[in-house]
Amino acid sequence: MELSIIQYPHPTLRVRSKPIRRVNKELRDMAAQMLDLMYEAEGVGLASNQVNLPIRMFVANPSGERGDGEELVLLNPELQMPKGNVSGQEGCLSLPGVFGQVKRPKSIRLSAYDLKGNPIDRVVDGFLARVLQHENDHLDGVMFFDRMTEEAQRELEDQLHELETVFESKQKSGGISSNGDLIAELDQWYEKYA
Ligand code: NI
Repeated sequence: MELSIIQYPHPTLRVRSKPIRRVNKELRDMAAQMLDLMYEAEGVGLASNQVNLPIRMFVANPSGERGDGEELVLLNPELQMPKGNVSGQEGCLSLPGVFGQVKRPKSIRLSAYDLKGNPIDRVVDGFLARVLQHENDHLDGVMFFDRMTEEAQRELEDQLHELETVFESKQKSGGISSNGDLIAELDQWYEKYA
């Protein structure tokens, strides 16, 4: 299975992904591919929804550099105990060229599993806390601009509309399937992993 990054407004970005019940070689290979895609695109995080997989997994490395910083592959993450509030700029590999200020809790408690099934439980703050929250949102079908003020959202309207127009014209020309077909294709992943 060769994965690629899907772009807004692909409907899988709005799906609430399901918990992973089974880990196998294919899933480990897909996690490795997600890391490759993230580094290639110079991102700091990539969620399974963004590669058209409706299951709860994301990869992250706040340094954005392979071999540097902390590389994380997280399965079935849960974020709890939000504390504080801090504003920071965010972008997203599924929204090329779109950036905005997002206010989020400053620290959170992360519970998750790694690919070997080891539990992870730690309190995270700083930039990593922002990355984890952004990626975890993807698993719930939430995009970063959903969390922006209405005023800030208005500034992105034209850019989002442009991406919508491009996507819809690809659907009309047959280059991308219809939303109904794209969502129906996700069933194969629920059967395998959820
Ligand atoms: Ni994103």
